[in-house]
This record gives sequence, structure tokens and C-alpha cells, in this order.
Amino acid sequence: MSANIYPVPESLTQGTYLSEETYKAMYDESVNNPEAFWAKQVEELDWYKTPTIIKNTDFSPEKCDIRWFEDGKLNASYNCIDRHLKDHAKKVAIFWEGDSPENSEKVTYQQLHYEVCKLANGLKKLGVKKGDRVAIYMPMVPHAAYAMLACARIGAVHSVIFGGFSPNAIADRINNSDAKVVITADEGRRAGRSVPLKANVDEALLNNACPSITAVLTHKLTGGQVNWNDDVDVWWHELTDECSGQCEPEVMDAEDPLFILYTSGSTGQPKGVVHTTGGYLLYTSLTFRYAFDYKPDDIYWCTADVGWITGHSYMTYGPLANGATQVFFEGVPTYPDIRRIAQVVEKYGVNSLYTAPTAIRALMAHGEKPVEGCDLSSLRILGSVGEPINPEAWQWYHKVIGQSRCPIIDSWWQTETGGMMIAPMPCATALKPGSATRPFFGIQPALFDAEGNELEDAAEGNLVIKDSWPSQARTVYGDHKRFIDTYFSAYPNVYFTGDGARRDTDDYYWITGRVDDVLNVSGHRLGTAEIESALVSHNVIAEAAVVGYPHDIKGQGIYVYVTPNDGVVADEALTLEIRKWVRKELSPIATPDLVQWTNGLPKTRSGKIMRRILRKIAANEYEQLGDTSTLADPTVVESLIDKRLNR
Ligand code: WT7
Repeated sequence: MSANIYPVPESLTQGTYLSEETYKAMYDESVNNPEAFWAKQVEELDWYKTPTIIKNTDFSPEKCDIRWFEDGKLNASYNCIDRHLKDHAKKVAIFWEGDSPENSEKVTYQQLHYEVCKLANGLKKLGVKKGDRVAIYMPMVPHAAYAMLACARIGAVHSVIFGGFSPNAIADRINNSDAKVVITADEGRRAGRSVPLKANVDEALLNNACPSITAVLTHKLTGGQVNWNDDVDVWWHELTDECSGQCEPEVMDAEDPLFILYTSGSTGQPKGVVHTTGGYLLYTSLTFRYAFDYKPDDIYWCTADVGWITGHSYMTYGPLANGATQVFFEGVPTYPDIRRIAQVVEKYGVNSLYTAPTAIRALMAHGEKPVEGCDLSSLRILGSVGEPINPEAWQWYHKVIGQSRCPIIDSWWQTETGGMMIAPMPCATALKPGSATRPFFGIQPALFDAEGNELEDAAEGNLVIKDSWPSQARTVYGDHKRFIDTYFSAYPNVYFTGDGARRDTDDYYWITGRVDDVLNVSGHRLGTAEIESALVSHNVIAEAAVVGYPHDIKGQGIYVYVTPNDGVVADEALTLEIRKWVRKELSPIATPDLVQWTNGLPKTRSGKIMRRILRKIAANEYEQLGDTSTLADPTVVESLIDKRLNR
């Protein structure tokens, strides 16, 4: 084998779930006879009624109707909690590790059941009913999981809003989903600083900006000062104090929505991606088990935030459906110092660690220091998610964190796919640094060119998925047409991912990144349109165009071109002001890295901004601008190049 292939480690080829042969046999069945394959997999879950109708999916642009296990009945919270109680009530579900290493807590499955039931009854008291939407704006504490599972228990649809989003972004999401209640905490904590969560919710609700909200439920975490409005405000502990610790789970149809999660697209406001109960839970449970070669005594740790899909699929539903023990981490990888990840691994004896390339690159900059003096011998499997991992970062992760012993599960998937789509199986797949390798069961990736031709053999093109899988998003909340337009109109009858990919001669996939106007900044997905709309809402800005550019740590940085209004002096102070503005309007994760003031943007004669040119200039590749003959005013480009900021 060539030097850059990492075979399955000897230690993982013994007595494991999946060998190379079983993977191949199961994969073949999953795509040749999906009905038979998935009919067997339904045993993964406990059903009130086991489904007999397995797959009923239609990708046609006229209809786009996706149903799995449609006559099945189940409850997600029952599957994540109750069914484990008989034999494992005392097993730890969550080891909570605080932002400060001095804070920690453990939650057994029994306690999880108690807390979730109490809150579920509390939500009922607030008038929340099956099908109602509940917004969750929480820090990384077990109460975030309680909130999600309490919703699932009573059939309410949760919509988690990332704790880093600003009041405007909260209001937009609440209003789009018509949420009845919002669940939050007084404050969050991050790297020793506090985050004003309740205050942000208050601001989002100001002047009756979110008329659907009837109650704000606040978990007292830090005890920090909060404003109180008796008309809507309710303390979590006061509400649940008198609630029973028993709550019968609601019997849900497999296709009843489980949650909405907002994610950015190339245009307009974020989309409310809708996931349903049966297919989502089954697929996340199965992928969790296989991808991490999960065994009942394992300690698993995913460093994501519940505000993202990874926090739903691989911190809440996937691991808990398996009855797993996991670490829930409130803090950041570099606080109090750069050894935090290694220290937490040692403290809990973590066996599988799932993190993001941006964290890996941030640590890699410090050589071996991030692991100094720490015992990492418990680690067996490493995972990577969120953006392409460059081979250097892969190798550092493998060598320094994984001590050249642990396979890296580079998993490609999306908010819309619900679960992992292309990822190695630790016991079955030889690895190539930088490649997400091969598809999971039931996933049929394909590459298309711009004209809609499918590319055969080794090739590079736009990544599509040819048939449905159980955890696929079913719609965009309140806008099925947008769902069809976004994912099923680029190429008829296949799901278009928005990513580009290369397939090599071993049929391994290498994700090359987004082919649309979606940015991936430190693994956070952001739409250029959202940032532009925040920019132009500032009164000094006439026009704005946002593009990504290669960034060593973040993967992509945010490069902003802005034209000032007449008479505005664009100086350094104003640049600072603009960066702060976006931070506040949208989110700190959307803060522009580079702001270039300009008197014009490159446009076609019909007035369309030529982003291709802006991307090249931002990447400092201004010598390869391609055809600029259709520009209305070619001199704009020279001046942009002249004053470019990324040199
Ligand atoms: C986009 C989806 C997957 C959960 C977290 C992000 C990029 C994700 C990988 C990977 C290359 C990746 C893609 C995708 N992406 N994982 N392993 N290799 N790219 O979910 O916020 O919906 O973002 O993240 O570009 O389309 P998301």
C-alpha cells in the first residue's frame, strides 16, 4: 500500500461490528434492495407500532414527497431514555464538564428520565401541545438536552437556536416557526466570560417583536442579574418544582416532525430544515454505532454545540438512542489553556472523540504542547466533522492526539442530511488523509457536471445523492417550494448537496467544499446574503458583497467589500464599527475578517455583481481573473486589486 494509506489498525479488526466484507455486503444490499435492508434495521428502535411500509419517497420536482416507515409509531424520548432504564438506570448518560475545570456533574439515565419528565409536564402546564413549536436558546449544559427531549416526549417540535446568535437572529427564527415558548438560561459561560442569553431573548422580544411567544422559561445557571417580566417570564425550577417526575410519552407517527433547525443557504434568510421522528432517529442511532464502533462501556465525547445539527444527531439523539455515556462540554478547547481537550480525555477516559478541523488546526499551531503531560491512552477512535480537513491537520490529529493508533472518521454530512453520509467505518475502511472515503448504508453519491451529465469513474464534479435515506430533511418549514428549488431543481430526481467532490480510482470521495455562496467559517455555516443584509442595514453602507477566502485556522475567512454612502469617510474607526455591527446584528461567528472599502463593485451590464472576481481578489489570485469583458466598468477591478487586503 502506498505511504498515504492508513490500513485498519490490527486492534480494530478483532470482534468488531463491521469488517470490510460485511460493510460491502451490507452496503450492496442497502442500495440494491433498500426495502429489505431497512426493514431489518427497524429493530434498532422500540416502536409502539412496528412499521410495515418502509420506503415511500419521490424526488420528482413536482412533488418531492419523502416518507420512511410511515405507518410506524414511536417516541424519540422513550427510545433515548425509558428503554434503557430496565437494565441501565444507574448508567451515566452525561458527564457534564463545565467551562471552568472546577465545575462538573454527572447525570444517570434515571436522572435524565426524571428531569425530562418534570420539564415535559411543565411545558404542558404552559399550554404546549403536540405539534407546537418550542425555541431553545441554551448554553452547553444538560438542561439543553432535557429541553430537547422534553419537547420530543410530548410531541412538541423543538427549534434550537445557537447560543451565539444575536437578538435579531433569534427573533427571525422564532417568528418563522411561530414558536409558543422559548427556553433559555440566565447566562452562558464561555472561556471565563459570561454570555447574556436571557438579555438577548428579552431584546429579541422587545416591542412585541415575537407575538407568538407566550412564555420565556429560564434556567438559573449562573445566578447572574436578569430582567423579569411577570407576564411572560417563568423560572424553570419554579415551573417544574411541583411537576411529577413521570410523564407518559406521546405516541408519534414516524413522519411527525421532531425538530426544526435553521441553516444558511446561498440566498435569503436561513431555512428551517424539518426532520421527522422515525427515519431520523433510526439513522442517527445506526450511524453513531457503526461510525464510532460503539460498545456499551465506551465514553464518547463530541465537542459540538447543541445549536448545530451535530449537537442534535451525535450529542443528543444518536448516542442516547444507543444508551451511551458521553461527555457534554460547556467550554472551548483552548481554555484555561491549550491542553483542555487532552485533559478532558484523560479525566473521563474518553474512547471516541468527535471534533472539528478548525479546533484541530488551532491546536496544531502549538505542536505537541496541547497534549503535554496528558494520558491519552483511552482513545480508540477519532472523528472529524464540519468542513474539509486538510491532510496536514489530519496527520497532526492522527499522530499527536491519536498517538498514531486511532483511525480518523472524517464524516461528511449536512444539516439537511440529518446523519453521516460519507465516512469511513473504523473497522472496515482503510484511510486516506483528507478523504471522507466511502458512503454509509443506503447512500448513493454521484458526481454531475454543470450540464447535468453524470460523471463516471475517477472524476470531479457537483456532489448529488441519487436516492433517499431515512434521515433526510423532509421540507423547509412553511416553504416546501423552497425545499424543492434548493435541493431538487439543479438536477432532476436527485438531491443536490451544494458541495463539490472528487472521486478517485478507489472510489473514495474527497469533498472539495461548497460550490454555492455558502461560507464555512470555523465549521460554522453562514450565507453571504445574511451577512450582506446585516451590512447594508448600517446607515453608512450603500452596497456590500461578501465572499470567503482561504484562512489557515478558520478554513474560510470572511472578506467584505463595502461601498460607503456619499460623503462618508471610510477610515479605520469606521471599519471597526462595521465589524462590531455585524457581530451584534447577526453573530460573533459572522464578524468580517477583512473589510475593503471601495467606490464600486464589479458588475455586469445587467447589474449583477460578479462574485467570481471578488473571490479571486480576496484569495489574492488576482492574476487569474478570467473573462472580465462583460463588466460594465472594468476600471473598478483595477482599483479593487490595488487596494486588496489579503496579500
Ligand atoms: C457543510 C454542511 C455535518 C454537520 C456539521 C455541519 C461541510 C461538513 C464535512 C467534511 C468536508 C464537510 C460541507 C457541507 N462539511 N462535514 N467531513 N468534509 N466538508 O453541517 O452546518 O449543515 O454544514 O459542511 O460543505 O455541505 P452544516
